[in-house]
Amino acid sequence: MEKKGEHIILIGFMGAGKTTLGKKLARRLELEFVDTDEMVESQTGQTISDIFARKGEAYFRSLETDMLRQLGQREKRCVVAVGGGLPMQAENRPLLKELGTVIFLETGVETLVQRLKNDTKRPKLQGGDLRERIVTLMNEREAVYRRVADVCVSTDNRSYGSILEEMISKTEK
Ligand code: S3P
Repeated sequence: MEKKGEHIILIGFMGAGKTTLGKKLARRLELEFVDTDEMVESQTGQTISDIFARKGEAYFRSLETDMLRQLGQREKRCVVAVGGGLPMQAENRPLLKELGTVIFLETGVETLVQRLKNDTKRPKLQGGDLRERIVTLMNEREAVYRRVADVCVSTDNRSYGSILEEMISKTEK
């Protein structure tokens, strides 16, 4: 089996706080922060919405896998936030595991609806009823998130400070 890497990887639904908490965690641990969505956008020079619209979701998913492979080559330890749909590609799961400790940020549907109600940038949430979209996707995804994760941390109704403490105590031995 491959040696497990030392990065910290945050997974979870859109709006779970992967980017916000990832940045805070990185600052606290004095590590770099990397976001696969940002990598895709900077390397293609296109927004995620444009990539979905012009080339389709399957192409976007292949770019996400490329980003994970690039991160696997990275020596310097970092905190990585990955797109909410990335763990759903079976080939990405062993890549995530090899990168390091995977934290699933758990968030309830009501919190997500509130956080995502004005979103225009996430193609998976546009059109139709937002709550229904979230519930349908969550039903497909939650078990996978749990299976991939080494650690689960709930984010509902909690301060950033308390979530950070839990993430640190569960990852830093
Ligand atoms: C997606 C999540 C987004 C982004 C894309 C697709 C998904 O990332 O990768 O819009 O399928 O859940 P965030 O989880 O950072 O919003």
